[in-house]
Amino acid sequence: MPCELTEKGDFMPNIKIHKGGEAFEGEVPANSNLVVRAGIRQFPYPHLSYGCGMGKCAKCMCQIIDTAESLPEPNWKEKKMLGPKLAEGYRLACQLWINDDLEISQDSQQAVQATPTTQQKVHNAGG
Ligand code: FES
Repeated sequence: MPCELTEKGDFMPNIKIHKGGEAFEGEVPANSNLVVRAGIRQFPYPHLSYGCGMGKCAKCMCQIIDTAESLPEPNWKEKKMLGPKLAEGYRLACQLWINDDLEISQDSQQAVQATPTTQQKVHNAGG
C-alpha cells in the first residue's frame, strides 16, 4: 500500500479503519494524530472512537492490522493502559503520530474495559 504524494509533493499516509463490520479509508497529512484529527472533525471522524486524547481512558484503543513497524515504540501511557494487549498488537491511537500508511481495527472494542491505573485514580480524585 504505497503512500500518496500531493501535488506539492507532500506525503499523505493512507489510513484504513475497520469498525462495526465496515471499513473506512482516507488520507491524512504526515505527522498526524488520528484523535486530534477526529477531534476537529476531519477524517477519521466520525469513525474513530476516542475519549480523553491523553492516554488515560483507552477508548481509542485499536488493533494494528498493517504497517505496525512504522509506528514508534509504545510510550509509558500505552504500557500502563494496555499491558499485555500491546503484545497482541493493540495501541492507543491518541499516542500515535502517523507518518506512514496504517490499517487499524476498532471492531473489538474492549478498550473501555481497561483497568484504571493508580495515576488515573489520583488524577480523578484531584478534580
Ligand atoms: S483517547 Fe483516551 S486513551 Fe486515547
